[in-house]
Amino acid sequence: MIFRLPSLSFFILQGCELHSLPSSIKNQYANFTRLSVLDLSENNFHSAIPDWFFNISSLTDLDLSWNNFYGINPNAFGNFVKLEVLDLSYNNLNGQIHLKVIGLGSCHLGGYFPKWLHTQSKFTVLNLSNTSISDTIPDWLWNLSSQALLLDLSQNEIRGMLPMSFSSTNIASINLSYNKLEGSLPRLPSCSFSLDLASNSFTGPIAFDNNEVSLYILILSNNKINGSIPSSICKLELEVLDISSNRLSGELPTCWKKFTLLRVGLSNNSFSGEIPLSMKYCTRLVVVDLGQNKLHGNIPTWMGESLSSLLFLRLRSNFFGGTIPPQICELSSLQVLDLADNNLTGPLPECIGNFSKMVVNPNASQQASYIMESEYTPAYEYSLQLVRDGVEREYTKNLPLVTDIDLSNNSLVGEIPEGLLNLLGLQCLNLSGNYLTGNIPLKIGVMQAMMTLDLSRNELSGQIPSSLSNLSFLNHLNLSFNNLSGRIPTGNQLQTLNDTSSYMGNSDLCGPPFPQECPGDGPSQSPSFTSKENEDEGGDIQEMLWLYLGIVSGFILGCWMVWGVLLFKRSQRIV
Ligand SMILES: *[C@@H]1O[C@H](CO)[C@@H](O)[C@H](O)[C@H]1NC(C)=O
Ligand SMILES: *[C@@H]1O[C@H](CO)[C@@H](O)[C@H](O)[C@H]1NC(C)=O
Ligand SMILES: *[C@@H]1O[C@H](CO)[C@@H](O)[C@H](O)[C@H]1NC(C)=O
Ligand SMILES: *[C@@H]1O[C@H](CO)[C@@H](O)[C@H](O)[C@H]1NC(C)=O
Ligand SMILES: *[C@@H]1O[C@H](CO)[C@@H](O)[C@H](O)[C@H]1NC(C)=O
Ligand SMILES: *[C@@H]1O[C@H](CO)[C@@H](O)[C@H](O)[C@H]1NC(C)=O
Ligand SMILES: *[C@@H]1O[C@H](CO)[C@@H](O)[C@H](O)[C@H]1NC(C)=O
Ligand SMILES: *[C@@H]1O[C@H](CO)[C@@H](O)[C@H](O)[C@H]1NC(C)=O
Ligand SMILES: *[C@@H]1O[C@H](CO)[C@@H](O)[C@H](O)[C@H]1NC(C)=O
Ligand SMILES: *[C@@H]1O[C@H](CO)[C@@H](O)[C@H](O)[C@H]1NC(C)=O
Ligand SMILES: *[C@@H]1O[C@H](CO)[C@@H](O)[C@H](O)[C@H]1NC(C)=O
Ligand SMILES: *[C@@H]1O[C@H](CO)[C@@H](O)[C@H](O)[C@H]1NC(C)=O
Repeated sequence: MIFRLPSLSFFILQGCELHSLPSSIKNQYANFTRLSVLDLSENNFHSAIPDWFFNISSLTDLDLSWNNFYGINPNAFGNFVKLEVLDLSYNNLNGQIHLKVIGLGSCHLGGYFPKWLHTQSKFTVLNLSNTSISDTIPDWLWNLSSQALLLDLSQNEIRGMLPMSFSSTNIASINLSYNKLEGSLPRLPSCSFSLDLASNSFTGPIAFDNNEVSLYILILSNNKINGSIPSSICKLELEVLDISSNRLSGELPTCWKKFTLLRVGLSNNSFSGEIPLSMKYCTRLVVVDLGQNKLHGNIPTWMGESLSSLLFLRLRSNFFGGTIPPQICELSSLQVLDLADNNLTGPLPECIGNFSKMVVNPNASQQASYIMESEYTPAYEYSLQLVRDGVEREYTKNLPLVTDIDLSNNSLVGEIPEGLLNLLGLQCLNLSGNYLTGNIPLKIGVMQAMMTLDLSRNELSGQIPSSLSNLSFLNHLNLSFNNLSGRIPTGNQLQTLNDTSSYMGNSDLCGPPFPQECPGDGPSQSPSFTSKENEDEGGDIQEMLWLYLGIVSGFILGCWMVWGVLLFKRSQRIV
């Protein structure tokens, strides 16, 4: 009778010494439209696992452990759509099924490698990703996997060390990333095709075993690996090399010509020396991330000339010097140029508006074709640490849609080139912490995609262009610590960016969000000032007037202690 209840959602008969279920149930499973938990564990069922269990499409938890079920129809698995927990452990499934593909990704397996796997000796694919296993990898699993093509144990809490035999494994694709594996890194099996050991706690140096080499994808990021890159890496034909966020040091190898690299991530280590010339032969490179190291020398001119597929170039936080070579503008596919926090000098290249990928707003209607356009759609994801709004974040899924130029904290001089206004798709421009002079380009408001604009800590002068208020996606603005003067533009998006910290430290800005009013605004204004209210370039006389009125209105508002002192200091400096 109970099985006639359509709203039944939990059915738990744990430890009831049952041998079988009434046979009539078989014809009624279609009524269990809400059943989400079926727990028959710790009974004495002695039969094959009924196929209809697998037809209860609402099921999220199926626990049949500790019984004597002796058979299973592997094809039946296909009917689960919501299953999160499957426990078949402690049954008699030996020899009954020989699965080729075992996909249990994101099933809750209760902390351990399922025992019944022990009986599986013919699988080629084993996916136990995200199954909350917190065990060590049992020896028998390595033995069983010797025939496998793919082993995905990522995103668990797997502990312990890898066995010595790991070095000679033939598994084509191994993913052990995001676990708690530790101990010194074993010699890497160069017979594999793809090896991902990212985000564990491996220590020691990188070494390769001496067998034939077919390793194309090597990801070791976010461990505690130290030493330098061994020269034996040169025998590989790498497509992806990501060893970022480790403790590696020494100079970079010089054999880059051999690699067919698409993506290289060496960031957040202690590599020194210059960018090797042979990297210029890696013409298919899409991602170059050498940030947060101790590299020096100039930014090579060949980067622009040779790496025409480059989408993401990140060299931030190194010791690169010299000027930014104009050849860099030839990177017509570039979406992210991050050279921040180096020792670069000279002006911004005039040709900066030539980055044609940044000319289109990637959000616009052509979004789909825009993504298709990048001819590489590799099976692995790119990710890149980018700083926006002063916060460093990892961009992965959204990366294809990101366009950033970050040249902050260098020693760049000269004016902001007008050509920059070509980059209508640019979302983030950070030029802060340089010695840039001249005005903010009057038509900056055409850069409609702009979300972050940081020009702080430069020597920019003149007025803030009123076109700035046209930037309707702007959510972070910093113009502080320059020599800007005159009325702060208002309206539209700027209405919400009303924090004084965006504007502080300038010679004399007036109007909201500052308390001091602009000349011609105050209640005591004389009509002659109103005519000067328009926003032409501020002349010297006008500037003097602002200064004067700034002091007076500041005084009137009773903010003399703050604004008066500030203005006084600046007027002294001007004198
Ligand atoms: C579902 O339950 C109703 C009674 O509640 C019954 O008449 C019907 O036959 C059941 N359907 C199946 C497929 O068992
Ligand atoms: C389970 O559903 C499938 C298709 O939905 C059907 O072919 C199969 O006969 C069902 N199995 C049982 C035991 O009812
Ligand atoms: C393994 O399963 C997970 C589901 O959790 C899936 O995201 C992942 O792509 C699978 N791995 C492979 C290599 O197919
Ligand atoms: C991991 O599994 C849980 C369910 O157990 C699911 O909610 C989560 O989305 C999965 N995570 C990934 C990255 O697949
Ligand atoms: C794994 O295989 C090796 C060599 O074939 C064998 O010596 C060892 O006993 C096996 N270990 C297990 C746990 O089956
Ligand atoms: C790597 O780190 C270990 C300690 O974890 C240290 O003993 C060893 O000298 C280091 N090797 C190098 C090359 O720095
Ligand atoms: C740099 O790597 C270390 C581990 O080596 C990690 O803890 C840290 O978060 C990384 N920093 C960044 C900015 O990725
Ligand atoms: C930038 O583009 C202009 C016009 O397309 C071209 O004449 C110029 O040579 C380019 N500059 C560089 C450095 O690529
Ligand atoms: C930065 O460049 C200047 C010369 O342009 C040089 O004197 C200085 O040592 C460089 N600083 C670093 C940290 O490389
Ligand atoms: C390994 O698994 C993680 C998490 O499941 C995934 O993000 C990563 O792309 C996988 N690595 C490879 C090389 O496929
Ligand atoms: C782009 O699209 C995202 C998500 O649809 C949205 O949050 C963002 O504001 C858009 N940005 C621009 C510049 O259109
Ligand atoms: C300042 O911006 C906040 C939102 O960021 C808004 O709630 C507030 O009304 C604004 N104040 C003024 C004076 O415009």
